[in-house]
Amino acid sequence: MIKVEHVSKHFIHTHALNDVSLNIEKGEIVSLIGPSGSGKSTLLRCIHGLEKPESGKVYLEGEEMDPSNEEKFRTQRKKMGFVFQHFNLFPNMTVLENCTLAQKEVISRSQEEAEEIALQYLDRVGLKEKKDEYPNKLSGGQKQRVAIARALCMNPEIMLFDEPTSALDPEMIKEVLEVMTDLAKEGMTMIVVTHEMGFARKVGSRVVFLDHGEIIEDADSESFFANPQSERAKDFLSKVFYQ
Ligand SMILES: Nc1ncnc2c1ncn2[C@@H]1O[C@H](COP(=O)(O)OP(=O)(O)O)[C@@H](O)[C@H]1O
Ligand SMILES: [Mg+2]
Repeated sequence: MIKVEHVSKHFIHTHALNDVSLNIEKGEIVSLIGPSGSGKSTLLRCIHGLEKPESGKVYLEGEEMDPSNEEKFRTQRKKMGFVFQHFNLFPNMTVLENCTLAQKEVISRSQEEAEEIALQYLDRVGLKEKKDEYPNKLSGGQKQRVAIARALCMNPEIMLFDEPTSALDPEMIKEVLEVMTDLAKEGMTMIVVTHEMGFARKVGSRVVFLDHGEIIEDADSESFFANPQSERAKDFLSKVFYQ
């Protein structure tokens, strides 16, 4: 479904990604893990087309994502839902409006249809009754569940998450991980940047471990956690708490 081929990306003083290649099949739940600054967000952003790699290519369903082919690029990006660490909800819109806006503007759904779909996904994340609230009335966990519902309203074929629970108080992490676990069980293809090793181990099917902009290990989650191969992954795992 996603193919990353020899992708490199520099910023002024850093080599954020160095010749990264990766294949992701439909239905896989890939946990992207690694130390801070290892390039996880940059890789996710390159996949989503938010960041342009300076060399290498990204393919979606076998077709190259090329920003110069604007219309096709837009269509490709619509197939990917992105969930951010800080939710990025529009503060001046209600929960329902947050969930209908892109449906109307980007995929030209009618108000009625957009609302129907929004309510269906808000119900799935347990927040239908909050539809008329503004985001500042919600807890962090609720905001993130709205952000997930909003992404799902666009019927993505793949969902990308960048540390979706890192900004949350501990008691709210679980409710968000539960929503993500349900999605995984339904067969959604997911790439998840996370420090939640329990989630990566139990829900994830595969782990990609990055360090200094390179993929150090790429293994099914059971083998990665039971038997990490590299010193860097062993060292990383010894420093993070998980069960
Ligand atoms: N927009 C940017 N401008 C300059 N440097 C950046 C930018 N984005 C990321 N970097 C640098 O690239 C490296 C990888 O960053 P990032 O992908 O955010 O890592 P991670 O998500 O694993 O913490 C870091 O050294 C970071 O400082
Ligand atoms: Mg990051």
